Amino acid sequence: TENVHQTEPKSGKKAKRRLPQALIIGVKKCGTRALLEFIRVHPDIRAAGSEIHFFDRFHDRGFEWYRLQMPPTFEGQVTMEKTPSYFVTRDVPKRVFQMNPAIKMLIVVRDPVERAISDYTQASSKKLDMKNFEDLAFINGSSKLVDTTWGPVRIGVYIRHLERWLRHFPLSQFLFVSGEQLITNPAAEMVRVQRFLGVKQFVSQQHFYLNTTKGFPCLLKAAGSPGPRCLGKTKGRNHPLIKMSVIQLLREFFRPFNARLYQVTGINFGWP
Ligand code: A3P
Repeated sequence: TENVHQTEPKSGKKAKRRLPQALIIGVKKCGTRALLEFIRVHPDIRAAGSEIHFFDRFHDRGFEWYRLQMPPTFEGQVTMEKTPSYFVTRDVPKRVFQMNPAIKMLIVVRDPVERAISDYTQASSKKLDMKNFEDLAFINGSSKLVDTTWGPVRIGVYIRHLERWLRHFPLSQFLFVSGEQLITNPAAEMVRVQRFLGVKQFVSQQHFYLNTTKGFPCLLKAAGSPGPRCLGKTKGRNHPLIKMSVIQLLREFFRPFNARLYQVTGINFGWP
């Protein structure tokens, strides 16, 4: 689903594939697809459509392989890619640094409790005999001990993962995008994104409309499609109803980690 923008640059130079200057590194189930699709509307940004998984899975294929996965760009255009597993994979920060120590990285974050339920919902959609959420979230069904090794929980301890990244990169190289804001006010979030990426303000209010059937913002005109476009059926799914007591225990578990994230990033994401 690659797209070369139609507009020729003034210089008349040819497009070529380049290594990314910016990455969406995470976080899974926080709105990374929405962010990528919104960014791809911008004429000065070109992004690979699928997740490339270079830094976590295919690193041994080398930078030349990686470059060839990127869409062709003209000089001055920004090349991007999103693979949410980068954020939580141990060796990735070091590898990204080896490619480009000045790279810009975007991280979408969302209330980790909602994220955990979203992650679980996705996993259950792929597995028929999935246990209940609460049987997986706690070390044994009846105890109140949160199982921190369970993916849907572990990934939501954002500060832990961020701290690993901060051993290699300064905070200024990351932009934190609120997954909640991306739904309630995508245009405002895109102002921050475009400023951070150093591109002109292009994607704005007039690119979005609220699709009342889907209950999410959709694009009036997406890259490579002639008309309006919402994300697919697997984005913005209904979640199973989880007992309030279970939600409360998870909130308590995440609270101190969220507080540290707010402190380190200087952003209060306002999670309950
Ligand atoms: P749910 O499906 O659990 O609601 P990712 O793309 O990182 O996997 O994130 C998926 C989540 O993006 C969805 O989780 C949904 O809440 C969120 N999202 C944000 N903006 C969206 C949009 N415009 N359309 C659909 N989902 C969106």
